[in-house]
Amino acid sequence: MMRMRSSLEIKTPAQLDLMRKAGLIVAEALAAVSEQVGDGVTTAQLNSIAEAVIRRHNALPSFLGYHGYPAVICTSVNSEVVHGIPNDKPLRDGDIISIDCGAYILDSRGTQWHGDSAVTVIVGGDSAATQEDLALSAVTRDSMWAGLAAAQVGARLTDIGAAIEAVVRKAPHYYGILEEYTGHGIGTAMHLAPAVENYGPGGRGPMLKPGLALAIEPMLTFGSADTDVLADQWTVVTSDASRAAHWEHSVAITDEGPWVLTAPDGGAATFARMGIASPASARG
Ligand code: MF3
Ligand code: CO
Repeated sequence: MMRMRSSLEIKTPAQLDLMRKAGLIVAEALAAVSEQVGDGVTTAQLNSIAEAVIRRHNALPSFLGYHGYPAVICTSVNSEVVHGIPNDKPLRDGDIISIDCGAYILDSRGTQWHGDSAVTVIVGGDSAATQEDLALSAVTRDSMWAGLAAAQVGARLTDIGAAIEAVVRKAPHYYGILEEYTGHGIGTAMHLAPAVENYGPGGRGPMLKPGLALAIEPMLTFGSADTDVLADQWTVVTSDASRAAHWEHSVAITDEGPWVLTAPDGGAATFARMGIASPASARG
């Protein structure tokens, strides 16, 4: 029987170190942006903060110019789920906003090494948030970590989506899980094969191998999972105007366990709490 050659990009340890550099820059940009989120702040201002961090490190923004995308980050507010374009409208206390950022560095051959990550925050912090929004964001974040923890040598691709969905379905509220948008492979480009679905049965798809890197990014809604794209051709909104959350990390699969390239500690603290082995404590 013919065996198709796998089209999944496998990175060497040295290449993963380059992706780690990009990942840490993305982490720093998201931390700087998150710190400045507040009532009256515009998403265009947040975009400038992210761009300054990326350029200070001599890295480049992955999103800017991607299929014509006009900004460095995506800022998706309330019923916007992903791919919202930064603008001059001030944020208000209680808004729920996903901030998505990508950056890459170049190696000596001019090859790009990308990192991609997103966080959800509530403007004004927990005291300005409803219990519904806090739970929506927390379940999305926890489901992302379950997906990251499932990124193990010897597991199959769809084990990641099954782990994400299991966390979502354990929650007391029935959240929508977007189906038209997925996570993805990442490395020499921001978007590589395979697509990483956030739901579905495990045990299918390719075996996960050391050196594969994935961006795992559950997108949850408080209501229906149906979405529309606004006339700007980018902004993905819920069809029922329900609120949404989105968290994302880029992770490398290694023989020692998952290494979260866009987490400042590589995932060490969260994986320790979950009882998951990870190379993060050794590699940082
Ligand atoms: N993190 C996003 C994703 O993986 C990237 C935003 S798309 C862009 O889909 F056009 F803004 F780059
Ligand atoms: Co992504």
